[in-house]
Amino acid sequence: MREQLRLREIDVAVDLVRRAGVLGNAIQLEQVFINLLTNARDAVANSPRKAIRISASVDRERVEVVVADTGHGIPAGLERRIFDPFFTTKEVGKGTGLGLSITYGSSRSTAG
Ligand SMILES: Nc1ncnc2c1ncn2[C@@H]1O[C@H](COP(=O)(O)OP(=O)(O)OP(=O)(O)O)[C@@H](O)[C@H]1O
Ligand SMILES: [Mg+2]
Repeated sequence: MREQLRLREIDVAVDLVRRAGVLGNAIQLEQVFINLLTNARDAVANSPRKAIRISASVDRERVEVVVADTGHGIPAGLERRIFDPFFTTKEVGKGTGLGLSITYGSSRSTAG
């Protein structure tokens, strides 16, 4: 997605400490990252500073990946609903509200 983000003048910082082997379904993991990055892309669309940071930390058992953006943030009180299927705050026709629900399901089945 690098090119797509660059065209929108979004700074992307990838802060990965070191390479790590991960067990999981590559296609599902790709889906997870595409969904998170697409959400970050949309969130910074009207921000004066457009930046996304992807960082990861590794310990013996797991890799934790954080995707952060300089957008408006998740509205207070909606933190629990954003993973629900079809929950979206985007305009009609812009979002299906399935991204995070798929992401949540994939993360769980991948971890298992
Ligand atoms: N990075 C983010 N910043 C602010 N709000 C977010 C972010 N990511 C998700 N959200 C909120 O969570 C809602 C649900 O996200 P989700 O990815 O499931 O659906 P969507 O992006 O609206 O539509 P779709 O992913 O199907 O195109 C979004 O509509 C938005 O309100
Ligand atoms: Mg989405």
